[in-house]
Amino acid sequence: MDFLKDAALPQSLEHFHLIVLIAAINSLVFVPFLTFLLGSSVLSYFFDRKGRKENNPSYNKLSRTIIDVVLYNKSVLAFLGIIPGLSLVFVYAQMLQSTVSISVGLAGFGFLSLVAALVLLYTYKYTFRVQGLLDVVEDNKANGDVDDYRRTNTSVHIRTGKWGLFFLFVAVFLYASAFSVTTNPSSWTSIGSIFDVLISFDVWLKFLIILAFSFGITSVCVLYFFFAYQGRKAEMDEQLKELVHKIARRFIVISMLVLPALVLLNVFTLSIDVLSGTIYLLAGLTLLFLFLSAHFLYGYFKLRDLKAVGYGFFMFLCAAASLIINDHIMIGNATKEHSAVLALKYDKNTEELKTKLGIAMAVMTGEDIFNAKCSACHLFDQKKVGPPYNETIPKYNGDKAKIMAFVLNPSKINPAYPPMPNQGLKPAEADSIVSYLLSKVGK
Ligand code: HEC
Repeated sequence: MDFLKDAALPQSLEHFHLIVLIAAINSLVFVPFLTFLLGSSVLSYFFDRKGRKENNPSYNKLSRTIIDVVLYNKSVLAFLGIIPGLSLVFVYAQMLQSTVSISVGLAGFGFLSLVAALVLLYTYKYTFRVQGLLDVVEDNKANGDVDDYRRTNTSVHIRTGKWGLFFLFVAVFLYASAFSVTTNPSSWTSIGSIFDVLISFDVWLKFLIILAFSFGITSVCVLYFFFAYQGRKAEMDEQLKELVHKIARRFIVISMLVLPALVLLNVFTLSIDVLSGTIYLLAGLTLLFLFLSAHFLYGYFKLRDLKAVGYGFFMFLCAAASLIINDHIMIGNATKEHSAVLALKYDKNTEELKTKLGIAMAVMTGEDIFNAKCSACHLFDQKKVGPPYNETIPKYNGDKAKIMAFVLNPSKINPAYPPMPNQGLKPAEADSIVSYLLSKVGK
């Protein structure tokens, strides 16, 4: 999949931010769908098997209703699964171009597994229908062919269910690992093969979060779509309704106990370059929404008022949104330095193009920029509005990309000073001024 990274062109800083935003919007659609699909496919497969073994048609009916809800029709699959899943691969390729990170490959194979899973699960759903049809025919005692047909249908049904589930798990794991590798710049180099992925703590943590999340969203969605959505009363007898309630309650309890702990663990094990105040804030918000969701759902189980399901569902989606947005703030932080490097390349490319076309502009030297844009607040040996360069520059040990990243997008550092306003430099200008500072401070 590296050819995708090679095909990508460097972009300006503004475009980089746009790409992270696109990744976030994609995930806001994709992650809830993928996790709901995972949870409901597991449930459907489980009850299909149980129904067959115990010869209990109401289990099979439940299994069929669940898969019908999540695989509603092909457009839903395309818009919630295929399109955002594929876009994410391209977005990663664009973000991680000219790094050795294997995220793009992981997401690419994740996408292929997802397509395989969707095709298989769709067949699984379809063979359910054929089975229903054959049941009617058999009641009429037509002829022996029906039995043959039924046997083939059942075996295709069981096999597609099993393999669909397998590929779905693979897809979820690969997307989770692509995501985890992207959020940690040190994994770009340290994780070089699928073996490294399999022994990475961060990857498994992300995967567990997704599993716990999928428990929660599946039960919330099942309750919502079975009972509350458009005031719908699912055609189920009381016994089956009780069963749905029992499973949903169990899933919710597991998810609500495990998910907050994992979310906190994730924040506390983040690498220090990626952390920021916003991340703590959004993690707190996620926990709050989860708590509210649990609260409403508990109310529903106590009072059986359907309105509470709607609120619980909505609060769970808010928790999902803050979790996903937080993940993308982490990606934004993780790629800060790399985006400055890419933006510099982009600037150089445009300069070259301009020179070729004969419309090149004079580029200011580092010293010019210092006099024009920095000297109002900075001296080398003395504090002015900002700290003296002789104190701050050596901290970076000559890491030019890091200083550039700061100058292009200053963050709050020293409480003794006010925050530095963004000077609106172009990456090429940041490059010259930082070279200038390094040459002066080095002396
Ligand atoms: C309006 C005043 C102002 C201008 C103009 C300004 N800075 Fe700053 N700069 C500050 C302040 C205030 C801080 C301290 C920020 C902090 O510690 O949170 C700072 C901090 C810094 C730091 C140290 C960061 C660190 O890691 O501690 C560098 C490097 C820097 N500025 C570079 C520049 C460059 C290069 C320019 C010109 C392009 C510039 N500044 C223009 C006010 C300014």
